[in-house]
Amino acid sequence: MFLAPCIFIAAHLFWAAQPTWACSKQSSTAKSSPVAASWYAGWHSSDFPLQDVSWHKYSRVIYAFATTTPNANVIGLQPSDEQLLPQFVQTAHENEVSAILSVGGWSGSRYFSSAVATDANRTAFAEAILNVVGKYKLDGIEIDWEYPAKQGIGCNIVSTSDSANFLLFLQTLRRKAPKLILSAAVSLTPFIGPDGKPMSDVSGFAKVLDYIEIMNYDVWGSFSPTVGPNAPLNDSCAPTPSQGDSAVSAVMSWTKAGFPRQKIVLGVASYGHSFHVEKSDAVDKSGNLNLYPPFNKALQPAGDKWDGTAGGVDECGNPNVVGGVFDFWGLIAGGFLTASGTAAKGILYQYDKCSQTPFVYNPTSEVMVSYDDATSFGAKGRFIHEMGLAGFAMWQTGGDSNNILLDAIRSGMSMSSY
Ligand SMILES: *[C@@H]1O[C@H](CO)[C@@H](O)[C@H](O)[C@H]1NC(C)=O
Ligand SMILES: *[C@@H]1O[C@H](CO)[C@@H](O)[C@H](O)[C@H]1NC(C)=O
Repeated sequence: MFLAPCIFIAAHLFWAAQPTWACSKQSSTAKSSPVAASWYAGWHSSDFPLQDVSWHKYSRVIYAFATTTPNANVIGLQPSDEQLLPQFVQTAHENEVSAILSVGGWSGSRYFSSAVATDANRTAFAEAILNVVGKYKLDGIEIDWEYPAKQGIGCNIVSTSDSANFLLFLQTLRRKAPKLILSAAVSLTPFIGPDGKPMSDVSGFAKVLDYIEIMNYDVWGSFSPTVGPNAPLNDSCAPTPSQGDSAVSAVMSWTKAGFPRQKIVLGVASYGHSFHVEKSDAVDKSGNLNLYPPFNKALQPAGDKWDGTAGGVDECGNPNVVGGVFDFWGLIAGGFLTASGTAAKGILYQYDKCSQTPFVYNPTSEVMVSYDDATSFGAKGRFIHEMGLAGFAMWQTGGDSNNILLDAIRSGMSMSSY
C-alpha cells in the first residue's frame, strides 16, 4: 500500500504552535503517538552537554528549571540558563523535538501559591510565563508545583485554596495560549483539596492540561523508615506495612478522580536511592536480599558525583545533607553494575517481583541501592502500553548510560529503539 509521505510542519517559529505532522487522513497519528520525554537538568550541562542527548529517541525534552519568584510578574532564570536555553530550544527544533520549559521543581515552588492567589496575580503570572515562551520560542510549559496545598521543601507559601487557584490559573493560561503544550508534574495522589485530602474530581484540570506527568519516584529513600523501592510499578502485592504508593495505585487514583489515562504520562527514574544496611539485615540465610530491611541513617552513603553534598544551606536556610542518590551511570561508575547494566562481580542482586524494581547490595561497603534497570524499565513500558497511558518522562536525561534504560522503556512500549 502506498502511503503519502508526511510533511513535518516546522511550526516552532511561533510560540503558540506545537509541531504537527500533516499527512492526508493521518493527522491524528502524530497526536496519538506516545510521549517519549525526559527532563534535561541545565546545571549538569558541562558533564552532559546538549549534543549528548539522544534527541531522535524523544518526542519532547523538558528543560529544568525556571523558578517562581516573590513577584508574580517575574519568572526566575539563572544567567547560565538564559545562556543555555536558546541553544536547548534550537537543538531540540533541529531534531524535530518539542522544547518544553519546566517552571517550579523542588526548590523553585516557593511562590506559586501567591502567584495564583488572585485574578490579577494569575493574569500577571500567565503573561510572565508567555513572555518567556515567546522570548525563547518554546513549544510548551510544564508546571512543576511541589505541591499545591501541601508543603514541599519547607518554606513554600501554602494555602488551602491552592488547587482551586491553580485550576483558575491554568484556565487563564490556556485561554491566552490555546496551542501551547501545557502539562503539570504531579504527585502520586490527585491535587490536595481544601480539606487536606486528595480531590475526588480533577476533571477540570484535564480540560486545560495536555498531560500530567506522575512523579513515580522517591517513593522510598533515605527519608523512609526502612529500605524500599524508589520507583515501584506495583505495590498491591507488597507486604502490608509497605503498601502505599506505586504507578499502579497512582494511575488508579488519578483516573478515579476523572483524569483520563490517555493524558497520563508516567514519570520514571534513571537513578536510585542508597542506604547503609548491615549485612545481617541485608542478606537472608539462603543468600537472597531482604526487601524492606532497616538501615542506618547516621551512615548515609554518598551517591555519585551528581549527588547533593552536605554543607551550606538550601533555599529555606536548612542545612544541606547527603542525598545518597546514584544515577544509573553512577551505579556503573561506583562498581555496582557492569557497563551493560547488570550486577557486577561480588554484588548481590534481587529483583522485587512486586515493585518490579531491582536492588543491589555491596556486602563489603554494606551499601544497598534501590533503582531501575532495563528489566524494570521494560516492565514500566509494557504497563504504559497496556494501560493506554500517554507515555513516559524520565528524570533525568543525563542519568542513563548508553540508552540502556531509554531503549528498554521504548521497546516495552513497542516503540523502536532507533
Ligand atoms: C500577588 O502577587 C504579589 C507579588 O507580585 C504578592 O506580593 C502578593 O502577596 C500576591 N497576592 C496574594 C493574595 O498572595
Ligand atoms: C499488581 O498486583 C496485583 C496483585 O498481585 C495484580 O493483580 C496486578 O495485576 C498487578 N499489576 C501489575 C501492572 O503488575
